[in-house]
Amino acid sequence: MSQVLVASNRGPVSFSLSEDGALAMRRGGGGLVSGLAGIAAARGEASPDVLWVCASLGEADRTAARRSPDGRLDLAGYETGGAAVRMLDIPAGTFHRAYNAVANSTLWFVHHLLYDTPRSPHFDAHARRDWQSYEAYNAAFADALARDAAPGAKAAIQDYHLSLAPRMLRERRPDLRIVHFSHTPWAPPDYFRLLPDDIGTQILLGILGADHAGFLTERWASAFLDCCELLPGARVDRVSRTVSCGGHVTRVGVHGLGVDGTALRQRAAEQDVVERARALREQVGDRQLIVRVDRTELSKNIVRGLAAYRELLANHPEWRGRVVHLAFAYPSRYDLREYREYTEAVERTAKQITDEFGTADWDPLIVQVNDDYPRSLAAYGLADVLLVNPIRDGMNLVAKEGPVLSERGCALVLSREAGAAAELSEDALTINPYDVSQTAEALHRALLMPRAERAERCARLAAAATALPPRRWFADQLAALD
Ligand code: F6P
Repeated sequence: MSQVLVASNRGPVSFSLSEDGALAMRRGGGGLVSGLAGIAAARGEASPDVLWVCASLGEADRTAARRSPDGRLDLAGYETGGAAVRMLDIPAGTFHRAYNAVANSTLWFVHHLLYDTPRSPHFDAHARRDWQSYEAYNAAFADALARDAAPGAKAAIQDYHLSLAPRMLRERRPDLRIVHFSHTPWAPPDYFRLLPDDIGTQILLGILGADHAGFLTERWASAFLDCCELLPGARVDRVSRTVSCGGHVTRVGVHGLGVDGTALRQRAAEQDVVERARALREQVGDRQLIVRVDRTELSKNIVRGLAAYRELLANHPEWRGRVVHLAFAYPSRYDLREYREYTEAVERTAKQITDEFGTADWDPLIVQVNDDYPRSLAAYGLADVLLVNPIRDGMNLVAKEGPVLSERGCALVLSREAGAAAELSEDALTINPYDVSQTAEALHRALLMPRAERAERCARLAAAATALPPRRWFADQLAALD
């Protein structure tokens, strides 16, 4: 098998500095990293030779990268789970502007339709400086990939942080075969056009530098083609799903991402998960459980989810004392004011519900804003109802992990705006994520659903969730380059 380079902002590990200056290492989080970690670590004849290029996310990562030969963490003896990893030492200011200001405050907001448009976005001279950093950050990846790639190698460039890198890499190394994969939704053209014209054009041209542009669902792929249709000089062929631009042809493909059921079940059988499940069960007794697990992320719609739970308790008092909502939201992107404010709004709303309905012997809601992966797995196991109500989501792996680990068969209340709805909507109760009352009624129906029906639906959801494991998802992307 030929060499494969993977490029993503977040790598499989990241570091923190303890008070005595020692580096502590932890596994990187999020769907993209979980999808790729097993693949990059695999060895053997059937596995390609993978090098994963990622960014230093903070000072501790930069220290680790500097202490390693050319940023190669694995060669410096760090335990990267078997993956060969090059961590790029990108200057702090450049990284901050590229990751926080452009990728997360602009591109993420555009693709997830998160702007409050009377006030933002606001593209001024600062935004231009931020954009230059985004260009420099993408160029740093293109340089590293160009240097590390063997002749004819395949490069799999991931996500909205790296939308310029495919074109930059092609310019440096025309011999490589390049795929770009978007883990987010893609914005419809009217929303994409919020971006300054030249920036929007560069993003499209950047991705069109790849031979293949992959998306998680038909809907996002088709939105990308819609945006390309507005690009001067580009020709979109809807039948062959290709875009021709400047003499280069990019194929557009859909590659759904699911979960590795075996690995997930094995992890959930470990002692730390079992202990947390026991503690949670003791805490909530035999009440029914509505579970959600998210990053504290604006697009995840946690506040409306809590409002729906409040409306359920207000409109259906029969559930008071008989149900508990576990809402686990692990911290995310705290450098951004919007995310800190959103976390406060989650905590405020939760407190209002507890104050309004809580009694001496019933806590209606357990909200925890911290990162405890084994506790999340334990909660999936116990869930009677799983609530996944994002405003918009590329896929949403929680909607897939939950049914796989559910012990009694959970009902899934799922936003129609999550990519996962394309695969799961038949057996889920689908909702409009903005409609709080509809969400409350869906929770009510889910709680009332007969056990046997819940179990049957859940078994079908789990089968669909495991149909496209990460290994297959990745192999499909690479095969599209042949
Ligand atoms: O594309 C979305 C994504 O990369 C997911 O894989 C992941 O859940 C999330 O964004 C992680 O965001 P961050 O790396 O900013 O924490």
